[in-house]
Amino acid sequence: EDYQRLPTPSPANPKNAMQVIQELSQKFSGFDAIAAGFPGYVKDGVVKTAPNLDNAAWASYNLQKELADALGKPALVVNDADMQGLAIASGKGLELVVTLGTGFGTAFLKDGILIPHLEIAHHPVTKKKDYDAYIGEAELKRIGVERWNRRIKRVIGILKVVFNYDRLYISGGCAKQINFEPEDNIIITGNKDGIKGGAKLWQVEYELVVYRHEMLMRMESNN
Ligand code: BGC
Repeated sequence: EDYQRLPTPSPANPKNAMQVIQELSQKFSGFDAIAAGFPGYVKDGVVKTAPNLDNAAWASYNLQKELADALGKPALVVNDADMQGLAIASGKGLELVVTLGTGFGTAFLKDGILIPHLEIAHHPVTKKKDYDAYIGEAELKRIGVERWNRRIKRVIGILKVVFNYDRLYISGGCAKQINFEPEDNIIITGNKDGIKGGAKLWQVEYELVVYRHEMLMRMESNN
């Protein structure tokens, strides 16, 4: 019961996605809170872009509020790679987490704290292609594993020089296609771990609430 999945609907618009999420939620006997990782730019729970879904339909969709309303529990929504990052980063030093799937997800963390989201996926890496088009799943199928691996090596080289990370995690459904031994500070890991990012997200929120409360109490006792 701890891990369930359903296929992305088509067209992947909010209405269809919410229906699938409703269906998915019924597979669990109970839950107190909702955390969602969304494949696009999300600000304060509101979807701004959804490059690999029905993009136009998602613009300004308040997914966080809609989830809470539909499922009757408080919800938090962040970018999908950010959620994965929270789940798998060690929390020590400067860590970059990338996910290889339909799109190229990226999360950057300093001592476990998420840095505001960078959509590296849409930075041009060749004259014609952004990272999604260069190493996304569709391209892996088109060019084959060998050429794709050469591109992944090139991309890692770029990330290393640009971000100077202490550790790089490579996750996502296509990560298992990597066929070379990476450098020592690179960790290749599975997808399922991402689920834990949802709990982390709530933990961070909870700690903030407790912190704010303590500050308020201190201010009041000083007055
Ligand atoms: C999106 C990112 C997302 C990534 C992986 C990209 O196309 O722009 O926001 O994290 O795909 O889903």
